[in-house]
Amino acid sequence: MRKKLVVGNWKMNLTRSEASATIESLLLMIEPTTEIEVAICPTYLTIETVGQLFKRTHFKVGAQDVFWMNSGAFTGNVSAPMLKDVGCHFCIVGHSETRGRFGKLDIPESTIPYFSETDETVNLKIKSLLYHSIHPILCCGETLAEREAGQTDEVIQAQLKGALSGIEGAEFHDGVVAYEPVWAIGTGKTCDTAEAGRVCTMIRKALVEILDESAAASIRILYGGSVKGSNAGELFAQPDIDGGLVGGASLVAEDFSKIIQSA
Ligand code: 13P
Repeated sequence: MRKKLVVGNWKMNLTRSEASATIESLLLMIEPTTEIEVAICPTYLTIETVGQLFKRTHFKVGAQDVFWMNSGAFTGNVSAPMLKDVGCHFCIVGHSETRGRFGKLDIPESTIPYFSETDETVNLKIKSLLYHSIHPILCCGETLAEREAGQTDEVIQAQLKGALSGIEGAEFHDGVVAYEPVWAIGTGKTCDTAEAGRVCTMIRKALVEILDESAAASIRILYGGSVKGSNAGELFAQPDIDGGLVGGASLVAEDFSKIIQSA
């Protein structure tokens, strides 16, 4: 039986004092239960602050990205052993924003190359995370153009194959896959529940082929893209959706607590 998992991806938001205030409010709103798992992935600078506040709870802290080398002349980057050292349990990899697959651009076109993660670099990051016992949250998802061209399933299958190349089922057993249609991120457009459920079932079948049956049965598959208190319940009720990867709504304690309660 897979435990539901709700992860907040704070992206580039909240200073330390704002993060503390948000977590303190959240902890007042949520009844402690070990029946579901909750994690927050704040900026690198607030990981320790959030981790300290979670100390006496079962909530976990994670990172939004990682570099695959352990140390060295890689200006601006952070490695898996460094994330482990500050208490990270999870780490997001291959998010559409770090793959440079921005749907609606509200950033200058010229910044895209700085985010151009590929399936190959995602694969290196996952291997480094697994080596350092951090659970990867592997994001996949199609752009609007790919969906309209009927390529959703093949795009996602190729992303999974590339990201998990050379990795054994037993190694990724506790890993997480997040289905995030690029066109639904931060746009207020949620993927239709039945379609999100269908894609997540397709992902589980692909994981049987790429890894093995036992790993595919235990990997949590999350849906992400405009998850809110009002739609979380029906999304999480789909047989192959094991929770959510939540952006905007995880920044507001009241909104995030509603989503956690839906799980
Ligand atoms: P929103 O929930 O803001 O659409 O973001 C989703 C996301 O990208 C989570 O990783």
